[in-house]
Amino acid sequence: MKPGDAEAVEQLFNDAAPSYDRLNDWLSLGLHRQWKRQMVLQLSPQPGEQWLDLCCGTGDLALALARRLRPGGSVVGVDAAAEPLVIAAQRSAREPWLPVHWQQGDALNLELPDASADGALMAYGLRNLADPAAGLRELRRVLREGGRAGLLDFNRLPSGTAAAVFQRTYLRRVVVPVASRAGLAEHYAYLEESLKCFPDGPAQQQLALDAGFRGASHRPLAAGLMGLLTVWT
Ligand SMILES: C[S@@+](CC[C@H](N)C(=O)[O-])C[C@H]1O[C@@H](n2cnc3c(N)ncnc32)[C@H](O)[C@@H]1O
Repeated sequence: MKPGDAEAVEQLFNDAAPSYDRLNDWLSLGLHRQWKRQMVLQLSPQPGEQWLDLCCGTGDLALALARRLRPGGSVVGVDAAAEPLVIAAQRSAREPWLPVHWQQGDALNLELPDASADGALMAYGLRNLADPAAGLRELRRVLREGGRAGLLDFNRLPSGTAAAVFQRTYLRRVVVPVASRAGLAEHYAYLEESLKCFPDGPAQQQLALDAGFRGASHRPLAAGLMGLLTVWT
C-alpha cells in the first residue's frame, strides 16, 4: 500500500478497527495512553471550550477531552473511516453525559466553519494524510485566534542513528509480527512506509508556520520514538 492513497488508508483503518485498541495497547505496552495524556496536559483544554479530535479513530482521545471540557464545552471527533467511528459511538454511549459528537469526514476538508474551535488534537493522524501540509492549513482555518493544537505521531529520525535503527527494528520485529496475529501484518507494515515520507520535527514546524500558525514547536517523546508538534494561532 502506498502512503498518500486516501481510499486505501480508509480501508486499512476500517479493517483494523475491531483489533485497533488491543493492538495499540500491546504494541506500545499501554504507553500510548501516557503520551496522549502528556499532550492533553500540555494543551490544557478548559471547561467551556470547543475542541476537535481529528483522525479520532475509536475515540479515546476525544472522550478524554470531553471529560475536561464540562461544563459548557464540547468536542467533535472526526474520522474518515466509518468502522472506527462505530466503536467510538459505542464507547461514548457508555458515558452519555459526555459532550462528544462524532463526524465522518476528511481532515483535509472539514465540514466545520472557519475559526470555530478553541483547540484541536490529532494523534497518529498527520502521517496518514495524503498531504500533511494541507492538513495543517485546514487545521489553521478551523482554529480561532488564540487557539492551539497538539499533533502526536511517530518521530521521523535521522537515518543511520541508533534511535532510527531501534525504531526500524521495533517496527519490523515487533509491530508486524504482533499485528500478523490479528491478520493485519500488511496493514501494519504500512507504518514503516508511511514514516519514510513523513516530515521530521523541524520540517513539521516549518510546515505549520507556512500554514499560517503564529508559532510551532516540535519535541521528541519516548526517547525520540514519538514526536509532539504543538502549534498556536
Ligand atoms: C493511526 S489511527 C489513529 C486513531 C486515534 N487518533 C488514535 O490515536 O488511536 C489514524 C486514523 O486517521 C484516520 N484518517 C486517515 N486519513 C484521514 C483523513 N483524511 N481524514 C480523517 N481521518 C483520517 C484513519 O481512518 C484512522 O482512524
